[in-house]
Amino acid sequence: VSVAAIVPAAGRGERLGPGAPKALRLLGGAPLLVHAVRALSRARSVDMVVVAAPPVEVASVRALLADHELGAEVEVVAGGRTRSDSVRRALASLPPGVDIVLVHDAARPLAPEELVDSVARAVRDGADAVVPVMAVTDAIIRVDDGGRVLDPLDRSGLRVAQTPQGFRRAALEEAHRVAAANGSGSLGDDAALVSRLGIGVLTVPGSEEAFLVTRPIDLVLAEAALARRRARGVR
Ligand code: CTP
Ligand code: MG
Repeated sequence: VSVAAIVPAAGRGERLGPGAPKALRLLGGAPLLVHAVRALSRARSVDMVVVAAPPVEVASVRALLADHELGAEVEVVAGGRTRSDSVRRALASLPPGVDIVLVHDAARPLAPEELVDSVARAVRDGADAVVPVMAVTDAIIRVDDGGRVLDPLDRSGLRVAQTPQGFRRAALEEAHRVAAANGSGSLGDDAALVSRLGIGVLTVPGSEEAFLVTRPIDLVLAEAALARRRARGVR
């Protein structure tokens, strides 16, 4: 069984504010993408990594990743307009023989390699699709167009979805085929696309370090989390 990890990294990072594409912004002196690819290639379960880079950055990302001696075989393809387009392009480039595909956001630089292995293991053990989840801490409310609160949501039935998500390759390919065909590819992450096919998606415990770097404050948190990790002697 061969496992490939796809890394969507082609977004601009609008919510992070002006600057380089988010995947290339620095954390502890290295781009977010390098951290994410390092975690994947250190995970024992991952055989190869395919990065979907911003189209104008493909050559520079290739050079960047070659510079960092990341272990696993790393390929770089041009990403697309939406995250789903980027995943679809990377998926199309996978060689035959890959049976399990993980999808992991470049913007989750501190996801632990243990999390990567636990997701891959759950697929290897028979799940078609796996998503790591965390409890929702904030109260989530639905509002109408005027910003008035509609109904209260019961937090106990809600989870925050993280990556890496893991899939039997055929399930992920089918989900993206269907999503592309009916133009719904930008609605939800990969687990959501697979779930929409009626395929069961298993949840496994996520990690508080696997948070998505979205806004400027998240980079501050990531720097602190990385410093804590280094103080403990990890990496
Ligand atoms: N992504 C991608 N291709 C796109 C859009 C997003 O590969 N066309 C990737 C991002 O690079 C990121 C991941 O999908 O690693 C999660 O998306 P998000 O956190 O939304 O990143 P951005 O789209 O870059 O950020 P923003 O939405 O703030 O612009
Ligand atoms: Mg985005």
